[in-house]
Parts: sequence; structure tokens; C-alpha cells
Amino acid sequence: MMAQIFDQIGRWAAFQMEPEKAHGLAIAALKSGLLKPRAHIADACLSVDVAGLSFPNPVGVAAGFDKNAEAYQPLLNLGFGFTEVGTLTPRAQVGNPKPRVFRLEADKGVINRLGFNNEGHAPAHAQLLRHRPTGLVGVNIGANKDSEDRVADYVAGIEVFADVASYFTVNVSSPNTPGLRDLQTRENLRVLLDQVGDARARAEAASKRKPPLFLKIAPDVTEGDLDDICQEVLDQGLDGMIVSNTTLSRAGLTADKDEAGGLSGKPLFDRSTIALAKVRQRVGKELALIGVGGIDDAPSALMKIRAGADLIQLYTGIIYQGPHVAQEICTGLQKACQSEGVKRIGDLRDSALDDWARRVLAP
Ligand code: FNR
Repeated sequence: MMAQIFDQIGRWAAFQMEPEKAHGLAIAALKSGLLKPRAHIADACLSVDVAGLSFPNPVGVAAGFDKNAEAYQPLLNLGFGFTEVGTLTPRAQVGNPKPRVFRLEADKGVINRLGFNNEGHAPAHAQLLRHRPTGLVGVNIGANKDSEDRVADYVAGIEVFADVASYFTVNVSSPNTPGLRDLQTRENLRVLLDQVGDARARAEAASKRKPPLFLKIAPDVTEGDLDDICQEVLDQGLDGMIVSNTTLSRAGLTADKDEAGGLSGKPLFDRSTIALAKVRQRVGKELALIGVGGIDDAPSALMKIRAGADLIQLYTGIIYQGPHVAQEICTGLQKACQSEGVKRIGDLRDSALDDWARRVLAP
């Protein structure tokens, strides 16, 4: 009870602040240990085995929340089944001018145009090496804005983090680095994934570790784009996909916010879930899929699983519900296992796949 009251006061105070300041404070609070860990819901029905990894529960922190690998351990302590650091670029960069993050409270959404602000590979790598996480931590890699060879930036990410990453996310879907989404086109994707795959093979030969490779895509895609992307992912032997990043669409907003950038949170739920289901239909049952976009409670998390996700991630839901949302979602998923009479939450995967896949991806 007291913890809930503190949560509510903390959230109220955070919402009085400029969004980036509030985020900085949240990271500081996590690092300081002010946010007390809660008992983990260790229930076999929540565990998920995909891409050669065993996740204690399917609820993860999406990339962008812990860009510089400062708070992965406190986040795991709060009950998240995994977390993802980054996006990390080889060199530090400041990102776009401020203000560049905007809350859309009435719609439970956020628009951001941060532009990969991060401290670069070296500090994050040193941190992960010095403080080995007790759980699964993926590393999301990208390219510097002024890079002359973007593919080489991703290859460098694999080389630097191969000894610490639980998995890699190749992020080609941020709308805030001009031209980055062009890497999703078939020919560019082939070259990128080929080089990244080679880098992982070299790292494996040297370290005997083979972190799975996931591709994170945008929800602003056509059926034809999805055909190309999914075929390339299968051809190149990737281990999974993350669907999706933020959207450039402003559909579903009740109050238009005239700011450029990627939209996340509730207004993204339908679009990202339709894209997820269409991807599941194309890649088949074996490939690992992480569903992201607009999750903020157990029913929305369960719906992503029903639409084809093995695992889910959230970011904006943490802003609106607080970091203890992981535990609430896990409790709800556990109840769903009981009420549906299934041994594993994954048994419910795909149960609404056709309904979502049938829907149109609006331009
Ligand atoms: C993000 N997201 C993101 N994704 C990514 O791959 N690399 C990044 O650096 C970031 N940065 C970032 C910053 C902010 C402020 C937000 C709100 C989002 C996208 C994020 O990981 C996720 O894909 C989307 O936000 C959709 O999920 P939610 O927020 O609706 O749960």
C-alpha cells in the first residue's frame, strides 16, 4: 500500500517536470536503489525459451530507456524478465536540439526525436563488463548520424559487445536519424545483415559465444516491405525480430501534437500489433518475435502474445504506469495461464493471430 502511494507521488512529481529531466531522475532513482525491488514472480508458466535463451518471464524493457547501460540491474531487480540497453553508436553523440521529448497525456503517448543521443560503445561496454548482470541484457546497436560507413558502425557494435550481450538488436528503424530507415530496403538490408552475420561468426570463433541476432523494424511499412524484410531475415538466418519501433503516423491521436518525431504508447498499439501479426504469418512459428508498442498492462501484453509475440517489451507504459508495471503484468499473465488452463504463457501465442493479420496496415 505504502509502496503504491510512493509510486503515485513519484509519478505525479515526474509529470510536473520536463520529460527528459524526469527520465534522468528515474534513471538516477533506479541507480540509487531508491526504488525497492519487489519479489519476483517466479512461476514456470511465465518462462519462455526462445532463440536459445531462457527468459524467466516475457516482460522486457524496450530500447531507449537505458541508453547507456546504467540501470539494467535495478530494472531486472524490479521483475523485468530482460532488458535492452542502447541504441548505442560507436562514438558518443548529443542527438537533436532540445526540447525533443513530448508527453501526450490525454492519449497516453509520447513523441520523441532524440536522435540516438548516447555516450558511445566504450562506457557501456566497460559497465557491462565490470557489473555482470544477473539476468538477460540485450544490446541494441546503431550508426552515428555523421557516419561515412553505417554498416561498419553496426559491425563495430557486434565486435565490441560480443563478450557481454545476451542478444543483439540491429536497429534500422529509428525515424530520428535521417536515412536510417533506408537500411530496411531489401538490397541494403542484405548487405547489412550479411556483414553483421559475418562479424558475429568471427566473434563466435574467438569467444565461443553466439548471442542471438534480432532485427528491429518500423511499423510504417507496406505488405510488400514486410515480404522483403521477412524473407531477408529468414535467408540470413537471424534469430528473431522486434516489432516495432515508433511510428511517424499520427493516427489515433485525439489531440494532435504538432511535433516531429516518433510516436509511441497507446496510439501505437494497433499499428504495431497488426505489423507483428503480419510478420508472424510470414516468418512461421519458429522465429522469435518480440512485440512492442502500446503495452501498459496485462491485457495489452497478453494481446501481443495472442497476436504472435513470444516476448514483449515496453517503454512508454513505464512512463505512465511506473516501473512496477512489470510485476503487475506478470501477475496478470499468470492469472491468464490459470484461467485459460495452459501450462505456459506461450501456449496462448497466435490465438488471435488471424484477427490481427487480417487488418489493414494504414499508410
Ligand atoms: C524509444 N525507442 C527506441 N528504440 C530503439 O530501438 N532505440 C532507441 O534508442 C530508442 N529510444 C527511444 C526513446 C524514447 C523516449 C522512446 C519513447 C522510445 C522506441 C522503443 O524502444 C519502442 O520500440 C517504442 O517506444 C514502442 O514501445 P512503447 O513505448 O509504446 O512501449
